[in-house]
Amino acid sequence: MEITKTNHSRLHETDFDSLGFGEVFSDHMFSMDYKNGEWVSPQIIPFGKIEILPSLCSLHYGQVVFEGLKAFYTKNGINVFRPEKYFERLNKSCQRLCIPEIDPDLCINALRELLELDRDWVPRKKGYSLYIRPFIFAADNFLGVKISQTYRFMIITSPVGAYYKEGINPIRLVTASEYVRAVKGGLGAAKTPANYASSLLPAEEAKKKGFTQVLWLDGLERKYIEESGAMNVFFRMDDELITPPLGGTILNGVTRNTVIHLVKYWGMNVKEHRIPIDELVSASEEGRLKEAFGAGTAAVISPIGEIQHNGALITINGGKIGYLSQKLYNEITGIQYGEKADKFGWCYLI
Ligand code: COI
Repeated sequence: MEITKTNHSRLHETDFDSLGFGEVFSDHMFSMDYKNGEWVSPQIIPFGKIEILPSLCSLHYGQVVFEGLKAFYTKNGINVFRPEKYFERLNKSCQRLCIPEIDPDLCINALRELLELDRDWVPRKKGYSLYIRPFIFAADNFLGVKISQTYRFMIITSPVGAYYKEGINPIRLVTASEYVRAVKGGLGAAKTPANYASSLLPAEEAKKKGFTQVLWLDGLERKYIEESGAMNVFFRMDDELITPPLGGTILNGVTRNTVIHLVKYWGMNVKEHRIPIDELVSASEEGRLKEAFGAGTAAVISPIGEIQHNGALITINGGKIGYLSQKLYNEITGIQYGEKADKFGWCYLI
């Protein structure tokens, strides 16, 4: 692999004490092209502008996929959390978007080289991490709607703090009555920009009403809970943890998988089944809804304190973080920061 180092590092101009989410970028980036049926020319170069033409097909038709994973500073080195899971999902998204897949080992090696070079960009403070954004875009120039023959795969990284300004404090959600995120057979399970573009208007309207995010209901009947902005959702009811099943309309979250794994390991019942929003409202009225939280790479574990649906407002656990949310947050971040044993082989140390 060709490596060109920057001769102007921005490291010392960066204030690591006031990091937002995805606002500053590390010194280097990885880039590789797909041409004539193969991935070629892997290289690491200084983070900077890329040259594109206004006719770039992915700007027009969105043939793009991406991922989001994190690296943490630990006393034993830089810990990338479950990288193979994210690159596996990247390839699933590629299949749906007609993008050529990439060998996950090649992705992990590229990431390792990039992080070896930019290891000082991994924030040292607890609660902070290096967010890693791999993405692939179609690189042909044309205006017909068809599959591109060329692509570019890039990895950029960004030192980040909390995703939601609430941090680990409970967020407030509102169901979307006029919009849907995805329907079966659509793009809902793929990590592709279209899903995020379609979420912007509903999320903006939710914010105007004083909520943090939207709680999506299914696209067909608007009856079953799906997911929330950038997170899968979990509900603890009668000492059982319930989350919507992967049916092609929601994202197969790596943090979702981590939560299910840990909770089962702790001996608690976890069910993946459809949850009618009306049942959630009645479970809350009957005192059976004990806690709720969102789980995602960017957001980690984000307790849900309130949900508004059709004018009814559910307050969960008195609007405070529940014991399971706190326990999961402590366990997951403990493993990520190398403070708790990596019992399941989730840590990839650099
Ligand atoms: C992630 O958790 O990586 C996400 O998908 C959120 C991202 C869109 C900011």
